Amino acid sequence: MAGSRLVHLFLLILLVPSLRAAPNTTAVVSRIAFGSCANQSAPQPVWEAIVGFDPQVFIWLGDNVYGDNKRPSRVFGRERTVGPWRNVPRFYPATEEELRGKYELAKANPGYAKLRERARVIGTWDDHDYGVNDAGKEYSGKVFSQRLLLDFLDEDEDSPRRKQAGVYASYMFGPEGKRVKVIMLDTRYHRDPLLSDGTILGDPQWQWLERELRGPQSEMTIIGSSIQVVSNLSATTGPLFYVESWARFPRERERLFRLIDSSKRNGVLFISGDVHFGEIARFDCGAQYPLYDITSSGLTQSVENSVPAVFQSVMRLLAWLTPTPMRVFSPNCRHKSCSYGQPNFGAIEIDWNAVPPRVKIELRDLHGNSVDGVEFPISELKPSNAHANKKEGHSFEAHCSLETELPWLVRYRLALLFFGTIAVFVIAVALLVIACCSATKLFTRKCKMA
Ligand SMILES: *[C@@H]1O[C@H](CO)[C@@H](O)[C@H](O)[C@H]1NC(C)=O
Ligand SMILES: *[C@@H]1O[C@H](CO)[C@@H](O)[C@H](O)[C@H]1NC(C)=O
Ligand SMILES: *[C@@H]1O[C@H](CO)[C@@H](O)[C@H](O)[C@H]1NC(C)=O
Repeated sequence: MAGSRLVHLFLLILLVPSLRAAPNTTAVVSRIAFGSCANQSAPQPVWEAIVGFDPQVFIWLGDNVYGDNKRPSRVFGRERTVGPWRNVPRFYPATEEELRGKYELAKANPGYAKLRERARVIGTWDDHDYGVNDAGKEYSGKVFSQRLLLDFLDEDEDSPRRKQAGVYASYMFGPEGKRVKVIMLDTRYHRDPLLSDGTILGDPQWQWLERELRGPQSEMTIIGSSIQVVSNLSATTGPLFYVESWARFPRERERLFRLIDSSKRNGVLFISGDVHFGEIARFDCGAQYPLYDITSSGLTQSVENSVPAVFQSVMRLLAWLTPTPMRVFSPNCRHKSCSYGQPNFGAIEIDWNAVPPRVKIELRDLHGNSVDGVEFPISELKPSNAHANKKEGHSFEAHCSLETELPWLVRYRLALLFFGTIAVFVIAVALLVIACCSATKLFTRKCKMA
């Protein structure tokens, strides 16, 4: 008896330190990396650059794998996937086994494995790893998708996150005075159909988010959303094409801004993914201080790599021509458009020793070089400072008017350019045909006369 008690005691002494060695959340966090949109079947050289940045935390923002399957784009034929006359969806979901296999492939990537050894990896999902392109609450495979994402993220078997509906979660890093809270949203599990102007988060997640924002304070609060929160790209690319974003659910977005504002929480900023390019946007009229949204997309997928190399400069020109009242233009950008259409990741550096502490947020390329960035004291994200800033004539409230408020000619510049080019082409062809016809007529008449 006494012997077995001694053994127990011995085991306890052995076990306690190893239990404590679990993630030390009180360690100072000063480097956080994030990214989205990684094709598990493609080479992923970006991990080398991310490991080089040496983050303590890495955040997945969705499309962590491309789980769904894609039919070839066909305008004609039996299975048409493109155009208003299409008869089959372009994307269809993977089976549970297929999705598991894709996650295993992603996890086995040597670069990613190296990062996992060095950094705490957390994350949420977007549509392609949730199940299928643009999917919401109606997707029937979401229960097994949730299990597979949480397996991929090494979530504990008994974690409450495995028992809730959706993958939203929050983390508090750092000691008193240097705390960083990370809130990961789930923009899929409860999302109403696009164009419904319904809910993105669903009631339980809204209540949870409110508790998280009103709960214990932190010097910085990073809210991770798979889809963009600030930019409304669709307003300036429609009717050519539309992308998902919070702005497509205007009432839900307003609710988010109101909640942040009324929570009086300091230091809130958004990070997002999804769109296959990187940009830094900022909305100055959502709360009492600027709300930044730093979009990094993708780790492998990018708008420029999706077209032949000769068209890359055209993509850059189009990016530059797309009007945006929210994007932050700064001399730090590699391109004039201040968007970045090649693979990239997000890098957040906090200088806790500066007085007052400062944060630098960058988008970095495959070599780890900065392509865009902003830097400011964290204290700039404080309700009380807003008015002082305004009085001093700072750039506060520079990013207030919405995309939908742009003058018509500016807002639809891309569409006008597109349809204008087509019109010019059609008119040119028509003129050519008319010219040919009258030439032939003239010729035949001359022949008859002769
Ligand atoms: C956790 O990190 C803090 C700050 O670096 C340090 O003071 C503390 O001793 C660490 N705790 C453990 C259990 O390693
Ligand atoms: C991922 O990469 C593979 C291999 O390059 C390619 O065949 C596949 O189409 C890519 N998937 C996506 C969604 O881009
Ligand atoms: C974003 O753009 C879409 C498409 O033009 C529009 O329906 C929506 O109301 C806009 N959202 C906001 C918040 O302006």
